[in-house]
Amino acid sequence: MQPVGVVRSPYQSEDQIPKGAGVEHRAEGILELLPKFGDGLTDIEGFSHLFVVWVFDRASGYELLVTPPTDTRPHGVFATRMPRRPNPIGLTVVALLDRDRNRLRVRGVDMLDGSPILDIKPYLSSVPDEELRRGWLD
Ligand SMILES: C[S@@+](CC[C@H](N)C(=O)[O-])C[C@H]1O[C@@H](n2cnc3c(N)ncnc32)[C@H](O)[C@@H]1O
Repeated sequence: MQPVGVVRSPYQSEDQIPKGAGVEHRAEGILELLPKFGDGLTDIEGFSHLFVVWVFDRASGYELLVTPPTDTRPHGVFATRMPRRPNPIGLTVVALLDRDRNRLRVRGVDMLDGSPILDIKPYLSSVPDEELRRGWLD
């Protein structure tokens, strides 16, 4: 896979990114696609939210049992959203604010500035709130 673009975020270092249980990500950023992929954003303006699939490019290695900052007990890496994972892929839901050609202004970034974007998809969820379970996070 090759990145289709890059995240422009206000966060230069990990300690600037809000962390913890129930944290809300309100920071604005730009999803900047390579110009050759700009046409792929046609009709995206109608969607309020997007999935962004991206790379934890500053993570290295992984452990199968990890203790997230939100807990004191270890959990399986696949039961967490920790960056150090066998395939260091991030998934973030952002609100789409506006588009200028190949640039999307979004709210809700939790990525470091410069994180590579692998894909963007409209956010659609058909899972009713009452059917969602939040595992150890609860
Ligand atoms: C807990 S992860 C969640 C990311 C995404 N929402 C997900 O669920 O895949 C967010 C953390 O990843 C780290 N991070 C952000 N961008 C990164 C990057 N490019 N490389 C490595 N770590 C990164 C920061 O510490 C940030 O607080």
